[in-house]
Formats: sequence, structure tokens, C-alpha cells
Amino acid sequence: MSETVAIRVESLSKTFGRRKKRRVEAVKRITLEVHTGQVYGFLGPNGAGKTTTIRMLLNLIHPTEGCAYIYGQNVQRNHSVLRRVGAIVEGAAFYNFLSGRRNLEVLARTANNYDPKRITALLEQVGLAGRAEHRVKGYSTGMKQRLGLAAALLSSPDLLILDEPTNGLDPSGMHEIRQFIRELADEHGKTVFLSSHLLSEVEQVCDRVAIINLGEIVREGAVTDLLEGKTQLRVEVSPADKAAQVLQEHWSLSTTMTLPAIPSPPIPSPTTAAVKQPGNSNARWLTVNASHDDAPHIVRHLVNHDIDVFQITSQRQSLEEYFLSVVREETERAAG
Ligand SMILES: Nc1ncnc2c1ncn2[C@@H]1O[C@H](COP(=O)(O)OP(=O)(O)OP(=O)(O)O)[C@@H](O)[C@H]1O
Ligand SMILES: [Mg+2]
Repeated sequence: MSETVAIRVESLSKTFGRRKKRRVEAVKRITLEVHTGQVYGFLGPNGAGKTTTIRMLLNLIHPTEGCAYIYGQNVQRNHSVLRRVGAIVEGAAFYNFLSGRRNLEVLARTANNYDPKRITALLEQVGLAGRAEHRVKGYSTGMKQRLGLAAALLSSPDLLILDEPTNGLDPSGMHEIRQFIRELADEHGKTVFLSSHLLSEVEQVCDRVAIINLGEIVREGAVTDLLEGKTQLRVEVSPADKAAQVLQEHWSLSTTMTLPAIPSPPIPSPTTAAVKQPGNSNARWLTVNASHDDAPHIVRHLVNHDIDVFQITSQRQSLEEYFLSVVREETERAAG
């Protein structure tokens, strides 16, 4: 039987601290499924419960309730299934006084799969070949992260579980690692589960995402489905404060509304109404969570309230904006 499900998490919970005062419900009854060959993103703000979930998946901590399965095996009962998993968990530890290559050698020998050619190839793949003989002590955060990825791949795992794999990488490093992760899935059939709060990264590399906030999964789905129909209208208005007030009677505004005019203004599409800006210094861009069809209503509403409209343009919401709006909404809801 071919395996289709790499990870299954059922009603998984973790509560830290016994005393009521110190109790933290880090993960609350989360359920999710990751199919083989997918790159699955686990998104959430700081403290959302990402690392705690990953630690439970790897059997590093025990769930308070619920179960985690990898390739159908309960990770708490059948540890051996974890041999098929390569992982980076927060702050991978290496021997500082050894070189990157020596660290990988030690790990490989411990796991009984020492193969110098493979180590050389991995160092090359993660872009560390030039620094392989240097001590880890002198590595930058990004270089340690790359070494962590090489270490995770050492045993040729079927499944990679990566906690914030692009942490500490510069934009070009992120791009490389993103491409590398995509290749692992597309060309080598690996399944990748990665956590991140760098949403633009996740948007570009993941097939599916779950958004976790305050220990709960608040959205889950294919990236394209989550963003379907999620548009925003950007409108340049004066006076902006009054416009924001008036618009909020019917629509929600994105937090990016407080940004001043963006450096390169969006090119208005032929369907958007554009009015030349007469150099009004009170004019500001507001971002409204509304569909393209709402544009005429928004303009009418503003004009009826004596607000000047200079430009209006629609844009697709990025995963980042979507994520921020979901987190804001859910946090407000949780606060009652
Ligand atoms: N060992 C622990 N003891 C007590 N509380 C903990 C422990 N580990 C995590 N927590 C708490 O659980 C919650 C979730 O933490 P977790 O590290 O899983 O978040 P995260 O999503 O990985 O955040 P980040 O993006 O900052 O890495 C936080 O409130 C954290 O303080
Ligand atoms: Mg974390």
C-alpha cells in the first residue's frame, strides 16, 4: 500500500506548568494532516505554539492530550519511525570547536551512516562548501542554519520537519533555501513540514498552510484557496483620518493603512478610477479589505462625506496581510 499521509496530528494539546497561575496552554487540541510530497507551512506569530507542536511530533516532549502519527505510527509508542525523519528544532546544537564537516562526520558516525562523499555533496548543496573546514564557532547564524539543514538531511530522511529553517538567513540565503526545499519535494519526493513567521517566504514555497494562533489552528488550506477572492483596495484620500472613520462604518481597514504613500505607487489598472493628485499633503493611502466590485461604493461613500479621492486601485491580498488579518481577528475574538 502506498503511503499518502506523512503526518497526522489528532487533537494534540500541551499544557505547561502545574500550578494554575503558571499554567500555559501552549497547544490546544490541534488536528492536521500532511500528505506525502507536500511542502506544508505551519504559520504563527511568536509564542503561537509552533515549536511546542514540532517537539511533540519528534517525541521530544509528551503531549498532555492527543496523539501524533508519522507514517501511521504513533511517535510515542513507535520511536523507530523517527528514523525516517530529519529535523531542525530551535537552536540546533553543534560542537563549536569542530568544523562544519567534522560535526556532520560525528553525527553520521553516531547514526552509523558515515559516507564522506555524501557529506561533501550535502555541504555543497546547502552552500557551505567554502566554509566546511572552518570551526562552527566562527559561523554566522545563517551558516549554522545551513549546517542544521545538512545535518537534517544526513540520513536521507523521507520527511523533514524544520522549525524556522530560514531564521537568520539574508534575503538571498532565504531564496536559495526556499528553492532547495522546493527541489527536495519536487525532485526527490520528500515531504517537508516547516514552521515560520516569515509569511512571504511560506507563500512562495508551501503547497498548504495551517495558521496557528494562541495554540489553536485558526485556518488551514491550500495557499491558493486561502487567498482566493481576498482582495484589497488601496485608496488615496484627504483628510485621511476622517476617511478612515467613515470607511470603518462598512469595511475593515488593513493595518498597513497607517503607512504613508508607498515609494512606488501601484499602477492603476484600466478598471480602476484614478484622479490626479494635486499635491495635497494631507492625502494618504488607506488599505480597505474589500473586493474590486466595492470600489464604486467606496468612492461614492467617501465623496458623500466630503472626502477627496485621488486614486483607487485593487490588489490581491498577500498571505502576509491575510495572516495578519486572521491573527488580529482571532486574537480579538479570543479576548471576547
Ligand atoms: N518548557 C516550557 N515551559 C513553559 N512554557 C513554555 C515552554 N515551552 C513553551 N512554552 C510556552 O508555550 C507557548 C508556545 O511556545 P512555542 O515556543 O511553541 O511558540 P512558537 O510558536 O514556537 O514561537 P516563536 O515564533 O517565538 O518560536 C509560549 O507561551 C511559551 O512561553
Ligand atoms: Mg518557535
